[in-house]
Amino acid sequence: MKIINLEDTPTEIETLESWNGAGHQDIEDKLSLKHVNDIIEIFQTPLTGSYNWDYKSADGRIKKLYELGKELNWNAEVDIDWGPTFPKDQHIMDPAHNPFNGWAPFENMSDSEKMRYNWHYLAWTLAQFMHGEQGALLVASQLVSCAPTYDAKLYAASQTFDEARHVEVFTNYLQKKIGIVYPINTHLKSLLDKILTDPRWDLKFIGMQIIIEGLALAAFNTLRLTVQDPILKNILYLVVRDEARHVTFGVNYLEEFVTTLSEEEKEERAVFAYEACVVMRERLIGTDVFEEFGLDVEEARTKTLEAEMMAHFRNFLFTRIIPNLRRIGLLTDKVRPLFENLGILEYENMVDDGEIDWVELQKPLYEEPEEEAMQA
Ligand SMILES: [Fe+2]
Ligand SMILES: [Fe+2]
Repeated sequence: MKIINLEDTPTEIETLESWNGAGHQDIEDKLSLKHVNDIIEIFQTPLTGSYNWDYKSADGRIKKLYELGKELNWNAEVDIDWGPTFPKDQHIMDPAHNPFNGWAPFENMSDSEKMRYNWHYLAWTLAQFMHGEQGALLVASQLVSCAPTYDAKLYAASQTFDEARHVEVFTNYLQKKIGIVYPINTHLKSLLDKILTDPRWDLKFIGMQIIIEGLALAAFNTLRLTVQDPILKNILYLVVRDEARHVTFGVNYLEEFVTTLSEEEKEERAVFAYEACVVMRERLIGTDVFEEFGLDVEEARTKTLEAEMMAHFRNFLFTRIIPNLRRIGLLTDKVRPLFENLGILEYENMVDDGEIDWVELQKPLYEEPEEEAMQA
């Protein structure tokens, strides 16, 4: 085992042998010795942990979510049919959803280059899911130590295992089925840095369970509708089942806790949540892919932001976060206008995850017909 400690987060795109489409000839140029070593980046965190000496389970809802986590466990090796690899000469994402359609720099690309772009954009998207899942894994493991109550510690432990399986399943798919691994987006990385190194446990909860996972839930569901590979659809379905539980846990646990904070502390959390949302909006733009294809990054970014469909899509991703922030009391008067400026305050009255939909959460993994899942 050779551990290489990097000062900075990697920025290179890694190409693996499983990538057989156009661009294959570049593999040697892009592979370096680094790729066969363990590459780490150190962070320091002033974690304040706690024992809990009262082993009585007091919170029935959290206990029940923990039980469900155990019951609905799945194994990516066994429960996913890894079947045939989706052919690299077919669009893996519906090309109709590309905001660059009709834009000269994109339209001037050859058909095979456009196809490569289609795959790269999915590879980039999935890599952000994978990196985000690693972030969730690290945060959940911190929560085991710092969550104050007995039920929450057990729940956080079960979530930690869920997140490990999520990292595993996205890693497997990227390595076996795509073969291109993008580095973490700088905006996502900066939010993870903040969450992992902040000493306040409730801020970790807000950042991870409400913002990152709330956004992930919407993003996973949306991708399920547009991606063409049934294997990936199935992976997303299984991961969504877990994430819905994680978000529900976050909302229910925080709702009570936030009421114990002073006004000033509450405002601090509200501003943090707003800033995290701003960062996550930026994270949704694949600038690394634009660079890889020689597109003018600023122009491509503007093009993406202008595309009406993309704006709708970006906002849609907040339909889970905003009602949940309202529910836990963090849509304060001070931050409401800020959210309004982002164009996402309108979602505040949508259904939140505070009222637990036990019927939905308890559904067995594989009994629902696929059509029903697609509409959910
Ligand atoms: Fe996850
Ligand atoms: Fe999660």
